[in-house]
Amino acid sequence: MTHPTHPADTGSDLSAITDFAEQLARDAGALIRHERDTNTLRTDYKHQTELVTHADVLADEFITRAIREQFPDHRILSEETMPDLSQAEHLDTPLWVIDPIDGTVNYAYGHPQVAVSIAYAERGRVRAGVVHAPFSDETFRATDGLGATLNGAAIRHSGATELRQSLFATGFPYTKDHLAPLIRRLDAMIHQCRDLRRIGSAALDICWVACGRLDIYYENVSPWDFAAARLIAREAGATVGHFGEVPEGYPADLWGRDILISSPAVWAPVRQLLRAASEYE
Ligand code: IPD
Ligand code: CA
Ligand code: CA
Repeated sequence: MTHPTHPADTGSDLSAITDFAEQLARDAGALIRHERDTNTLRTDYKHQTELVTHADVLADEFITRAIREQFPDHRILSEETMPDLSQAEHLDTPLWVIDPIDGTVNYAYGHPQVAVSIAYAERGRVRAGVVHAPFSDETFRATDGLGATLNGAAIRHSGATELRQSLFATGFPYTKDHLAPLIRRLDAMIHQCRDLRRIGSAALDICWVACGRLDIYYENVSPWDFAAARLIAREAGATVGHFGEVPEGYPADLWGRDILISSPAVWAPVRQLLRAASEYE
């Protein structure tokens, strides 16, 4: 297969970009699976509290090397080797946004909810996204305007209409310094919704909203956690947005604070609930 070396303008260019991302995510998934199944994981801590394994770094190096070879003029934002967040605001050349392992704590504990996330953005708009879960062998993918699939079959949000019958997911940061406002949000949500799932991978939380296994997801996260999955959810008909403000001029597709993704009918009431719990109004 040949791949375009210039920004993708047409649907077929974008499909080729998505194919490239899918192959990379699958290859990286095989690598991280192999490392857990056959090697002793070597673990370390970033910023004192954040767990990282040798496989996070290996997979990041593998993905970023392949992108640099294929698209030398594109920029890369990746959690482990190129985490410069200011990249999200430079709109001149295409940007790849990578999380080599989303769900590192699950990975280290032997849980299956682990994903490789790869997004491709042009001028701050995410146009292709792949989230591959190697332990369940599930691949979510979307191309801007062309719909979303799970292992090749079209997916759709749950269609939930009532908060009381909605299952929601969220997550919590590694640092424990500012938990109080997050607990207030959780308190409000758990009283109004059916129940909570804490899956441990933001990318999978969002893809699970996209395919109807969950109804609602909200959290504060980094671009690599959600960039690909947010496009997948949007293409599956879910409503994607924020319950807080996106700073003027910042690409909403990459702004991770106060993100809210849900079945369309419950989006506005959840936004209202989370804004009130956050004392935004
Ligand atoms: C984490 C997961 C988790 C979310 C955290 C993220 P990582 O990513 O997505 O679900 O709650 O905020 O940092 O560290 O496993 O790549
Ligand atoms: Ca992550
Ligand atoms: Ca990660």
